Amino acid sequence: MKTVEVYPSPRVLAEDLAEVLISHIQELKKEKDFVTIALSGGTTPEMLFEIMGTRYPDQDIWQNVHLFWVDERCVSADDLESNYGMTRRSLISRINIPIQNIHRIRGEEAPAPEAERYSKEVSDFTFKRVGFPVIDIILLGLGEDGHTASIFPDQMHLLTSQKICEVAHHPATMQSRITITGRVINNAGSIFFVVTGRKKAGVVEKLFKKKILAQNYPAAYIVPEYGQIRWFLDKEAGDLV
Ligand code: 6PG
Repeated sequence: MKTVEVYPSPRVLAEDLAEVLISHIQELKKEKDFVTIALSGGTTPEMLFEIMGTRYPDQDIWQNVHLFWVDERCVSADDLESNYGMTRRSLISRINIPIQNIHRIRGEEAPAPEAERYSKEVSDFTFKRVGFPVIDIILLGLGEDGHTASIFPDQMHLLTSQKICEVAHHPATMQSRITITGRVINNAGSIFFVVTGRKKAGVVEKLFKKKILAQNYPAAYIVPEYGQIRWFLDKEAGDLV
């Protein structure tokens, strides 16, 4: 199932998506012992996390929720570039979640061994489908170049990797990243794409209208095999669709 919601502003989007995610978590908890969520970095996710942390701080919700990351920059957790650091400031610092439920990628470690270690940590907390972990909820952003997670247009092989995590590199800065791979993303129960801002209107249009250019976008290959995909756009990002 695919749905698309368009909102008048990033804030209104984030407020509604926070409620949608919390409701979805609560529904999943009726049928599962715990819920796994993989989070992305980016400016829109940060706003969403602030709202979730402020509105839904109590332990009842977070007690059996396990937080993972879709990707991480290979920097220390205190570096402003750190996706975990951003989530700690905006969400984790505001909610009562057991520390053992926080499964961060250790950006300060050597990338290749950490990708291996994190792959095992994800694997240990998930059941498998077609040989890959099933993460209940995956939150994704979208770059202007069509990247998602840290799967960039010049590293499309990460979409079909047999590994759970791989080392990637930002094409412009060459910054090392660790990213969950495309097969794991497409194995998720629910994928939530969160995209805001006029700069994203072009990439959104090409993706939605399946323009020929979109074949160069990793996000074009995010098609859940079993779950649902829900797009949350603000008016500016969705202006051309
Ligand atoms: C990262 C993210 C990346 C991000 C997009 C959108 O580590 O940077 O995982 O995929 O979500 O680049 O970021 P913005 O919302 O800031 O444009």
